[in-house]
Amino acid sequence: MAEIRRVLVLGAKGTLGGQLMRLYPEATAWDREDVDVLDSSALEARLDDLPSLPLAVVNCVAFNDVDGAEDRPGQAFALNAEFPGRLAQWTKEKGVPLVHYSTNYVFDGARGEYRESDAPAPLSAYGRSKWRGEQLVAQHGGQWYVVRTAVIFGPKGESELSKKSFVDIMLELAAKRDTIEAVADEVNSVTYAADLAAGTRALLEAAPPSGTYHVTNHGSASWFDFAREIYRITGKSTTVLPVPSTRFPRKAKRPARAILLNTQLPPLRPWQEALADFLGS
Ligand SMILES: NC(=O)c1ccc[n+]([C@@H]2O[C@H](COP(=O)([O-])OP(=O)(O)OC[C@H]3O[C@@H](n4cnc5c(N)ncnc54)[C@H](OP(=O)(O)O)[C@@H]3O)[C@@H](O)[C@H]2O)c1
Repeated sequence: MAEIRRVLVLGAKGTLGGQLMRLYPEATAWDREDVDVLDSSALEARLDDLPSLPLAVVNCVAFNDVDGAEDRPGQAFALNAEFPGRLAQWTKEKGVPLVHYSTNYVFDGARGEYRESDAPAPLSAYGRSKWRGEQLVAQHGGQWYVVRTAVIFGPKGESELSKKSFVDIMLELAAKRDTIEAVADEVNSVTYAADLAAGTRALLEAAPPSGTYHVTNHGSASWFDFAREIYRITGKSTTVLPVPSTRFPRKAKRPARAILLNTQLPPLRPWQEALADFLGS
């Protein structure tokens, strides 16, 4: 029988993983219940048991609790840095391309807009762990792609722990309140998980040189802009009040303005269009 070669998606039940599985229905999908990726020998045994080498490994596993990482930096580094470093080694040994995701939080926000080649200077333990992960993937990888992205929204991942996106939180708040407050002095790129999954597939098909790529929807938004657009599209009358980030003190410091410029790949559609698509209008 001919070998069936499939993409292997790690973190398949998360927000992005779920969208990748829609694009690659044949993919081998692993999540925490299939293998704890921090258990290196269990992971290696699973990898060795694959009936054939995957066409590519796409790693969506991450420690994404930005504030929690301040208290548990060891866990954040284990999942966001050491594990992708080991995975990069395995994929290099086997000659399999690796896609790994990082974040705009590797930047400090002082410059505002960042090219792929700009030097990271993370402000938080989460940002430092993701930056270290980027470095280890580059150091150990063969054909490797670090895809930086930001503020993912889309259908919630199947996993119980998968975070609700900002869109769901805003819609829940609108059902309870007439007025909400949203932070206006933190500006990010914004990314629809389905578009990021499609961008990932396009990247793997184009197979450019190994390196760091920025994949987000076009444009940028503060949380205030984002909330207003959600309510505009869904026709909610909820009033959104702009507030400074100091209104909601949080453990981890966030960049004030960290917009990812995509200078390498075909641009994705504007985030407002993607949001309207997601919200079904
Ligand atoms: N979400 C954002 O706004 C955002 C912004 C910038 C960058 N990113 C990056 O984009 C990528 C995808 O993010 P996402 O939002 O799709 O993540 P997510 O929804 O949190 O999904 C991560 C998945 O990995 C699984 N996982 C966690 N620890 C594991 C372990 N030890 N072994 C096996 N599986 C484990 C999780 O399972 P459990 O649920 O059971 O833990 C979950 O299904 C990540 O690299 C993230 O850092 C995300």
